[in-house]
Amino acid sequence: MTASTKIAVFASGSGSNFQAIQEAIDRGELHAKVELVVTDKPGAFVVTRAENFGIPVLALNPKEFVSKAAYETAIIEALHKYNVKWIVLAGYMRLISDVLLAAYPQRIVNIHPSLLPAFPGKDAIGQAMNHGVKLTGVTVHFVDEGMDTGPIIAQVAVPVIEGNREATEAEIHKQEHLLYTKALQQLLQ
Ligand code: GAR
Repeated sequence: MTASTKIAVFASGSGSNFQAIQEAIDRGELHAKVELVVTDKPGAFVVTRAENFGIPVLALNPKEFVSKAAYETAIIEALHKYNVKWIVLAGYMRLISDVLLAAYPQRIVNIHPSLLPAFPGKDAIGQAMNHGVKLTGVTVHFVDEGMDTGPIIAQVAVPVIEGNREATEAEIHKQEHLLYTKALQQLLQ
C-alpha cells in the first residue's frame, strides 16, 4: 500500500471495525484513506460513525434494484468515482457476486469472528458457544463467491469464556480491531 491507498469499507451494522480502521489511519498506523463507506442498511449505526468522521456514505437498499447485478453495478460506479482500489468488508452481511469480484479481483477482504473454516455465516460467536468449543477466534481472508470462504490472510485465537457471551464477544471485537488494521497494513503496503 502506498502512502494513501484508497479503500472503501462495506458494513451492514454497528461499524466498530470501520471505526477501528479509521482510528488506525488517524494514528498513522495504517496508510490508507477511506474514501467511501458503503452500506446495504441505510439505518445502520455505521452511517453515523462515518458522518462523524466526515466520510461519504453510499447507502443503497438492494431491494430497490431489479437484480443483485444492478445493485453491485451501482456500487462499482461510485467506487470508480472515488478511485477506490481495495474493498474492505467489515460486518457486511451479504454475499459478493461475480460482478463485484470481477471489478476488484483479489482486492476484496473480509473479517469473520471465528477460526474459519469453522462457523461461517451469521452469529459465528453464538455458533461457537453453542458447539461448546473452548477456543474460537478471528479470521481475515480474501473474498470469493462463497460465504466466509476464500484464502486466509491472518488469524488469531480467542478463548471462549464459558457461559459469558458478552465477555467473549467483547474480547473477539477487541482482537478483530487489532488484527484487521495490522493485516490491512501488511497487505496493502
Ligand atoms: C464483526 O464481528 C465481523 O467479524 C462480523 O460482523 C461483525 C461486525 O461488527 N462479520 C461477519 O460475521 C461476516 N460473516 P461491527 O459492525 O461492529 O464492525
